[in-house]
Amino acid sequence: MIDFENERFHLRNDFFSYVIEISRGKYLFHRYWGKPLKEFRDSAPLQRIDRGFSGQLADFENERTFSLDVLPQEYPVRGRTDFRIPAYTVELENGTNISELNYASYKIFDGKPALKNLPASFGDGQTLEIELRDACGNFTVFLSYTIFADSPILARSARFVNTSGKKIKIRNAASAAIDFSDNDFEIINLYGGHAAERTIQRRKVSRGIFEISSTRGASSHQHSPFIALAGPTTDEFKGEVYAASLIYSGSFAIKVEAEQFGTTRLVIGLNPDVFSWTLEQGEEFQTPEVALNFSADGLNGLSQSFHKFYREHLMRGKFKDKVRPILVNNWEATYFDFNEEKIIALADCAKDLGLELLVLDDGWFGKRNDDNSSLGDWFVNAEKLPHGLNGLADEVHKRGLKFGLWVEPEMVNVDSELYRAHPDWILHVPNYKPSFSRHQLILDLSREDVRDYILNAMRKVFSSAQIDYIKWDMNRHMTEAFSAKLPTERQLETQHRYMLGLYEIMEKLTAEFPDILFESCSGGGGRFDAGILYYMPQTWTSDDTDAVCRLSIQTGTGLAFPIVSQGAHVSVTPNHQVGRVTPLQMRTFVAMAGTFGYELDITKMSDVEKSDVKTYVELYKEIRPTIQLGKFTRLLTGGNEYAWQFADDSRVVVMYFKILAQPAEPIRILRLAGLDADKLYTLKKYLPPKKLGVDGGPQKISFAEKSFYGDELMNFGLAAEKIETDFAAYMWVFEVQ
Ligand code: DGJ
Repeated sequence: MIDFENERFHLRNDFFSYVIEISRGKYLFHRYWGKPLKEFRDSAPLQRIDRGFSGQLADFENERTFSLDVLPQEYPVRGRTDFRIPAYTVELENGTNISELNYASYKIFDGKPALKNLPASFGDGQTLEIELRDACGNFTVFLSYTIFADSPILARSARFVNTSGKKIKIRNAASAAIDFSDNDFEIINLYGGHAAERTIQRRKVSRGIFEISSTRGASSHQHSPFIALAGPTTDEFKGEVYAASLIYSGSFAIKVEAEQFGTTRLVIGLNPDVFSWTLEQGEEFQTPEVALNFSADGLNGLSQSFHKFYREHLMRGKFKDKVRPILVNNWEATYFDFNEEKIIALADCAKDLGLELLVLDDGWFGKRNDDNSSLGDWFVNAEKLPHGLNGLADEVHKRGLKFGLWVEPEMVNVDSELYRAHPDWILHVPNYKPSFSRHQLILDLSREDVRDYILNAMRKVFSSAQIDYIKWDMNRHMTEAFSAKLPTERQLETQHRYMLGLYEIMEKLTAEFPDILFESCSGGGGRFDAGILYYMPQTWTSDDTDAVCRLSIQTGTGLAFPIVSQGAHVSVTPNHQVGRVTPLQMRTFVAMAGTFGYELDITKMSDVEKSDVKTYVELYKEIRPTIQLGKFTRLLTGGNEYAWQFADDSRVVVMYFKILAQPAEPIRILRLAGLDADKLYTLKKYLPPKKLGVDGGPQKISFAEKSFYGDELMNFGLAAEKIETDFAAYMWVFEVQ
């Protein structure tokens, strides 16, 4: 899969080619990334042009056509004639940050090395490691590229080694940089806010530097560590698109520079604004990994390969390939106001409805009756749960349900025994009072003593009862991200050290408790990133449970992340976040397009609603493998309508949503995608929308039993019966013959 010939590395599989060239024996140029090429013979050689104000390195003073400023770099540096955004900056002991990386050697080997303390892809790949040496011998950079036979994804990262004999300081170290030869792209990124995560934004690349970043110490609700550069005519089904998804959960920066000569540079990695790293002689620094993805089959092709790659080469543990239990979570049902009796009543009802897991959310520990206190005090609140977690878990299990629990181990309240005992364990700076968010402070996970406390506290909780599931929450962003334990020169390491500390804790706990299904959460989807998926195979997608908002949130999330990783729950109406009233069917279908659950007081549902829920739950159990583990395709995206298709070898499920009814609207014909033209698909179930306000009567599922060839469904399509109602949700279930 990786060749080295004529000073060029050609990484190639059935999905893409990626070519790097060594120029003049020392400079590493990026030459090609795109559809697979049989051979790279350089049909479009680099043009030799003398460009004004693009200077030469001293060795090439008289060769005015050789300037790093106009040539495509593989891992660029600033200060040696390239004025575009650099991939790295290293400050030397003499105070300068000038360096030049020269090619030294390469290695090609089978397999994919793990990254020390960092989440990273794994599997049977082939890896190219290129060694670059600073021209003055101060440090070495190893660029790592892994290509897998079954995926269009290239995994890249960089490792720095100090060879100077003195201290050096890394100010900036990107995971990857790519120079594209033109700028005819549209940037697709995922922006948002709390309870409004990952909205798709698409805009033309224009001259200047575009940045998406987080300094929040979390990948964040606001900007996702993901970017795509799509051709202007690329849509869901056709066209080329390049994407980068960082396998990291902390602050990051992605920059796109459309520069003077019409080329585009993409740089992705740690955020230099909140990072630096001191390396002593011989020490190493490893950047996070980035998953680079190329699709020639539009955005659906891109998403499908991200989903497959993350499921097969990133997610771990026994649950990664398993369908996930249908849960009921008490958060929106009770908030902090619960006791054992209420939770057992939920469990009784959950059992009756056919649900499989009861999750006890925030408020079970210390004196926590609101969000002012007790984070850090991980012992049970005996007033609420007189029989302890064990007693409650037993009751839940007796009803045939699994038992899950919420924790937020990274945080502390001032009103807690932990804070009173260890006020210096928080992230803070001298002379400033720490800032609050949700009344809480952040424990300094860069410290070993803090990590030990968290590990031991969690070990105790996780073994105190039969706990089948853990929801690991994190409800604020970092301010004053400094550590009482680090020396002055290392204070800017705190954020990254925190992440390494978090990953260490997650690694240990998930390994020690392999039977627990972990769901990550950060006020909803504030840490929904590929880094966390390495440890926890699902994440609560958003604190917004409104079905209409979720259409966009889940669509944006699905651009990069698998359906099975997205927590999605049915909640009550009027919805708690936006006050909207939507029919149960719409809420249900939207939530079914993820790891399905309920988050409302199910005991208060009417008999009619309960009967509908039973029908839906039964249906979901049947189609769950197709939805959660099948291939996902967006048939229609955005505006007033969304349509989603889930398919595996035995079944195809299609969901269609129309938010508002419109007068004189055309009949929607949905063309299915990716089916086998010659196979027969038998329509087994058809669920048309129920009208808003008449959510009544047992759910009718018509058994149509008509068969169609795949070519007809893909080319002629499926007509959505016209039903005049807002918030219409349809479902078709086909069996493959
Ligand atoms: C934020 C989460 O996203 C919610 O689901 C809930 O667990 C609360 N935290 C509890 O404090």
